[in-house]
Formats: sequence, C-alpha cells, structure tokens
Amino acid sequence: ENPAPYHEEAHDPRRRDFINIAAVSFAGVGALAIVLPLVNQMNPSADVLALSTTELDISKIEPGQAVKASFRKQPLFVRNLTPAEIAAADAVDVGSLRDPQTLEERTKAGKKNWLITLGVCTHLGCVPLGAGEGENKGPFGGYFCPCHGSAYDTAGRIRQGPAPTNLHVPDYTFNSDTVVTVG
Ligand code: FES
Repeated sequence: ENPAPYHEEAHDPRRRDFINIAAVSFAGVGALAIVLPLVNQMNPSADVLALSTTELDISKIEPGQAVKASFRKQPLFVRNLTPAEIAAADAVDVGSLRDPQTLEERTKAGKKNWLITLGVCTHLGCVPLGAGEGENKGPFGGYFCPCHGSAYDTAGRIRQGPAPTNLHVPDYTFNSDTVVTVG
C-alpha cells in the first residue's frame, strides 16, 4: 500500500501567516473601537465646532493692516487692503497664476478691500507670516510661509514656492460695515 499522499497545503507556512495576520487585524479593530469613543469624549464639541461661526469686529483694522483671528480653531487672516495693494492685485495677469482667481472673486462686491482667508499655508499647513505688526509679507506683499518659502500676493494668491493653491477664503457675510460673520 502507498502511504497517504502528502498534502502540501496543510503544511504551507503561508496558512499560518494568514491566521496570524487575521488575529492581528482583529486586535487592531478592537483597539480602534476602544480608542474612538475616548477621542469623542475628549472632544465632545467636534460637531458643534464644524458648524460654528465667528463674529468679527473689523472697525479697528486700518488700511494696510492685517490681523490674525481664529475660526473653527484655525488661524484666520483679516486684511484691509490699501488702494495700492488692490491695484497691485488687479494688475496681475490672472491667466498666468497657478490658481487663477481675481481679487474680485476672492472678496465681496463693493468690499474689495477686505480680504478674509484662512491663515493656513496650502502646502503643509504652516501659518504664514504677514498678519501682524512688522511681519514679513514676502516678495509679493501678501503673506510669506517660512516653512518652505511659499509667497502669497495681496489677494492671498500663491505666487511662488510649493503651495498648490491660494489661501482658502471661508464663507462669510457682512452684517454691517464693521461686523463680519465667518462660517
Ligand atoms: Fe508653507 Fe510648506 S507649509 S510652504
């Protein structure tokens, strides 16, 4: 009589690997299930935050001045452009821009001097300079990101460096000439 045939699959070490991997994955899912509720407890207002609005009093921001505020826990830049800064933004050939947008498209009708953007570099999220007394506005007069040298112009548009897009303009409305609601 021949001995029973050798079943290679039964001794295949890959099978054991699969079982080990399955066990590890299961443990991973278990750990996640434990971690997520803790994260939610630590930050009970995450949903509320996503819907929150910020009211800004802009009455004290002089032409030529840019200030930092905050919106949904992110830096927000509010800038009162001078006529010269508006002219500089309007003089740019929009078709040549990496992220082509006019100043008009980035501001509200009749309020072209108010540029409101997130203060978050669109490259890797550093906070650019230029919104504060004496800060480096960079070679295009807007904002300058010190992390990898992205330079934004007076409309907050990317002009030089690795950032792929313009500084983000959040939704906002003017409640009056001096009060803006962001969000
Ligand atoms: Fe701003 Fe890289 S994060 S240039």
